[in-house]
Amino acid sequence: MRAWLLPEGCESFGQLYLGELPDPTPGPGEVLIAPKAWSINYRDFAVAAGKYFGGPITQPSVPLSDGAGEVLAVGEGVTAFQPGDRVQGSFFMDWVDGPQVMGRALGDGKAPGMLAEKVVLPAHGVVKVADSLSYAEAACMPCAGVTAWNALFEGGRPITAGSRVLVLGSGGVSMIALQLARAAGAEVIATSSSDEKLARVLALGAAHGVNYKAVPEWGAYVAKEFGGAHKVVEVGGVGTLQQSMNALASEGEIALIGVLADGDPPHPRQLMMTGGSIRGIFVGSVAMAIRLNAFVDAHAIKPPIGATFAFEDAGKAYAHAWGPDSFGKTVIAL
Ligand SMILES: NC(=O)c1ccc[n+]([C@@H]2O[C@H](COP(=O)([O-])OP(=O)(O)OC[C@H]3O[C@@H](n4cnc5c(N)ncnc54)[C@H](OP(=O)(O)O)[C@@H]3O)[C@@H](O)[C@H]2O)c1
Repeated sequence: MRAWLLPEGCESFGQLYLGELPDPTPGPGEVLIAPKAWSINYRDFAVAAGKYFGGPITQPSVPLSDGAGEVLAVGEGVTAFQPGDRVQGSFFMDWVDGPQVMGRALGDGKAPGMLAEKVVLPAHGVVKVADSLSYAEAACMPCAGVTAWNALFEGGRPITAGSRVLVLGSGGVSMIALQLARAAGAEVIATSSSDEKLARVLALGAAHGVNYKAVPEWGAYVAKEFGGAHKVVEVGGVGTLQQSMNALASEGEIALIGVLADGDPPHPRQLMMTGGSIRGIFVGSVAMAIRLNAFVDAHAIKPPIGATFAFEDAGKAYAHAWGPDSFGKTVIAL
């Protein structure tokens, strides 16, 4: 079978190459999947650069956590799936439910990756896709979708109708969070570096857009102009956290997700002023993915796909997702 591979010692996604691997077969408790579509996440650049948590790539590795496809065969003892089922992988292969379990993470250079014609996963780390989604759309869900879901609806302060949700930038996590929040009846405020992208974000249902380059004190601006955010989908990290704290409404929660922005460390005093809190998010569990997919079906949500590339053009897909024109999710599809 064909598989895209990162070489040992890989330093950049530019070193990705299309290779051949033996066809895998499912052992007991495993599922053989033929992915039909994949999506790229920001972490996939870190994996390729050898800077993800697993460290440098130590042997040729199949990348990507996010893929959706068809079950080809199941191993001994698997009853939850059968050939023909439409499925996706779970980012954390062994976090089935309950408290956070790190462990094996798809496509991190150690665990299996999805960007191949065939993949074997443990059945407990496989999820049926939302019925209403195409494979390309379903491939946006395992990382960005589940992260957005966890940020908004899990933990002690889930959003409800009427909540105000602040999403940062127009990337994959933020654009899916926008859609989920709107479906739950929340009001969404979005930031972006680009007025053109803000127009697209408003078209997706955001009530307000703020250009974070034109308005560097966007946190205070959100608090003053819009009453503050009950939830912040914090994909920037150190460089945006002060502004996110400044943007909080009373008892708001920052869902701490990303590492996009460098900057001075924030001062936490603003949390005292608002009774705010910060909750760390690391994607989510199989159970969260199942809850997300049910919500997606119930609300006819279609994740925003900014660009789609052929399997043979995976390198171009990475380059697009890394570049300034990316919006929402970048997908690779057969
Ligand atoms: N903890 C977790 O579970 C988890 C899960 C998924 C992702 N993440 C992290 O979350 C972040 C976003 O991931 P993603 O896959 O959604 O990324 P992505 O699709 O590549 O999104 C990139 C977008 O982020 C925006 N951005 C960049 N710098 C920014 C800044 N200083 N302030 C506000 N927005 C900024 C830009 O939007 P504009 O072009 O509109 O300015 C850019 O287009 C990454 O750091 C990723 O590693 C963490």
